[in-house]
Amino acid sequence: MSQTYDFDRYIDRTGKASYKWDQSEKLFGRADVLPLWVADMDFEPPKEVVDAIVARAKEGIYGYTIRTEGYYEAVAGWLSRRHGWTIRHEWVTSGPGIVPALSIAVQAFTEPGDKIILQSPVYYPFYDVIRMNDRIVVDNALILTDGQYRIDFELLERQAADGAKMLLLCSPHNPGGRVWKEEELRKIGEICQKHGVLVIADEIHHDLVFSGHKHVPYATLGPSFEQASITCIAPSKTFNLAGLQAASVIIPNAELRRKYNYLLKTLSLHMESYFGLTAVETSYKHGEEWLEQLLVYLEGNRDALLEYVEKHIPSVKAIKPEGTYMVWLDCRAISEDPQTLKKLMFEKAGVAFSEGSVFGTQGAGFLRVNLACRRELLLEALRLFSEAAAQEAAAKA
Ligand SMILES: Cc1ncc(COP(=O)(O)O)c(C=O)c1O
Repeated sequence: MSQTYDFDRYIDRTGKASYKWDQSEKLFGRADVLPLWVADMDFEPPKEVVDAIVARAKEGIYGYTIRTEGYYEAVAGWLSRRHGWTIRHEWVTSGPGIVPALSIAVQAFTEPGDKIILQSPVYYPFYDVIRMNDRIVVDNALILTDGQYRIDFELLERQAADGAKMLLLCSPHNPGGRVWKEEELRKIGEICQKHGVLVIADEIHHDLVFSGHKHVPYATLGPSFEQASITCIAPSKTFNLAGLQAASVIIPNAELRRKYNYLLKTLSLHMESYFGLTAVETSYKHGEEWLEQLLVYLEGNRDALLEYVEKHIPSVKAIKPEGTYMVWLDCRAISEDPQTLKKLMFEKAGVAFSEGSVFGTQGAGFLRVNLACRRELLLEALRLFSEAAAQEAAAKA
């Protein structure tokens, strides 16, 4: 009989060295600030994953560990069942996380001074892995029209023709919440392949897609897409396992794979996390029912937020996400100044959403809300924010 998971259950995450819950005083100046920012969830992963990790912990010797056949079967099985992508085991390599994998890809496939395209507003470490590796950010800024982000393909074509070497593709997109359609991905690929731009597809949010939408893995669009891209996936967002630092990097092209693996070894990052491997294998083998229930809960949270914002915070426009557990709020009518919005959140409301300008300059005036918490907490945070926003508006009037 299938189990029912209770995502409304209160779990006290404080005092557990939590990046999200134990830093409010340090980061926001108030210990009681409700944290709905960094992308981890307040939910326990599937019971099978916890049991497998406990069993592994009880083995009591934590030596170097290897990827077993079971690991490869789990990754390939998940991609095939959930995403219709048939991969070969030998295509799968690793990284201690997706961001490290992106940074390795930047170093392995480009040179200092090369241009790398991203699509802002975007997950902020994309800027770091380009700039901190002495490459140049080329911004194919997304266009916000009719309440959704679209890709500026004409600009992309010019940027690709102008010598960009790589595109960091965020699919589904964080923070915009877009689940890119097949036609959009195909157009990106055609432009990139025409101009020799390598696509690094960060598909970490691939499992978090709301009803009516479907994630299309970039590499499934055809052999030429598969050969001129690398795809990064992980169970970390899907099953809330980010602290275990395990990612899978799928590289069908043998030469690209050789280069990536060489650098992984050079940096000595090829050894795997003992618990991470167990978490990958168990979640992909046993987590499907849990995920289905999570998606229903998250969609309920999304809809509750959209309704609340429309009714109670009319100055804010929420961009309806098609996927991820993030909602991007257009707060420009309140203020376009990041400092004003921070003050409003941290000092006046006592909530911490992510401040938008860190996702790129066009994110100024936006906030990103993490939906992956108890609905009660989400609504409480929105209530606090709406009261503070109303007070601010009254003071200005
Ligand atoms: C698009 C995207 N990539 C990567 C990550 C983080 O991946 P990791 O913790 O494996 O480096 C996140 C986390 O929010 C993300 O949203």
